[in-house]
Amino acid sequence: MITIAIDGHSSCGKSTMAKNLAKELGYVYIDTGAMYRSVTYYAMQNGMIDAEGNIDTDRLQAAMPDIHISFKFNPETGRPDTYLNGIRVEDKIRTLEVSNHVSPIATLGFVREAMVAQQREMGKAKGVILDGRDIGTVVFPDAELKVFVTASAEIRAQRRYDELTAKGETCNYDEILKNVQERDYIDSHREISPLTKAEDAIVLDNSNMTIAEQQEWLLKLTREAVSASE
Ligand code: DC
Repeated sequence: MITIAIDGHSSCGKSTMAKNLAKELGYVYIDTGAMYRSVTYYAMQNGMIDAEGNIDTDRLQAAMPDIHISFKFNPETGRPDTYLNGIRVEDKIRTLEVSNHVSPIATLGFVREAMVAQQREMGKAKGVILDGRDIGTVVFPDAELKVFVTASAEIRAQRRYDELTAKGETCNYDEILKNVQERDYIDSHREISPLTKAEDAIVLDNSNMTIAEQQEWLLKLTREAVSASE
């Protein structure tokens, strides 16, 4: 069994790839973006983000020991759901409002420190797949397989739009595209653990690939990485 790190831009299908692969291999899947989203949701619920998007960092830092994130396998969907302090927040953390606030929260050093520590603890046994931005560079630099996923911003915005529309949320394509581009910028330019490809990561541009094609590509790579580690 190995550790698999899947990093890349937002909305490029990392989590779908990771979830499917985990199911196929019987590995544990850890969605690290869901963890930053949960912290954001907590801050929003507790009045720590004002109308202009300013974060009350002192209060949030003091609250960090009270923020417990966990994942519980949902037999109905066959995938893990995210829990914040014991309450299921899987849908609540996927709204555009949370997406709009999450990048600034993910730039905070004390938030990253707490999340990285939790991720290392959750993933310390092999047989795990983590997706995020800094898994191959910071969280598990020794992962046996590292994939860096990307696709054009327009395609990613369209995918996000389709996903939200399918869930019944009213949304606007241009607004989503703006959010995707802004998040790309913040995620890639932040001081701590910016989104960068690990030197030894394999790049996947899935702009013109189907989910099935990506799955096949990833499974082949995984089998090679598992054999190499034996
Ligand atoms: O993958 P996602 O869209 O759910 O991630 C939400 C935000 O969290 C994204 O804007 C960047 C941040 N993030 C991060 O900084 N580091 C990670 N390992 C995962 C996500």
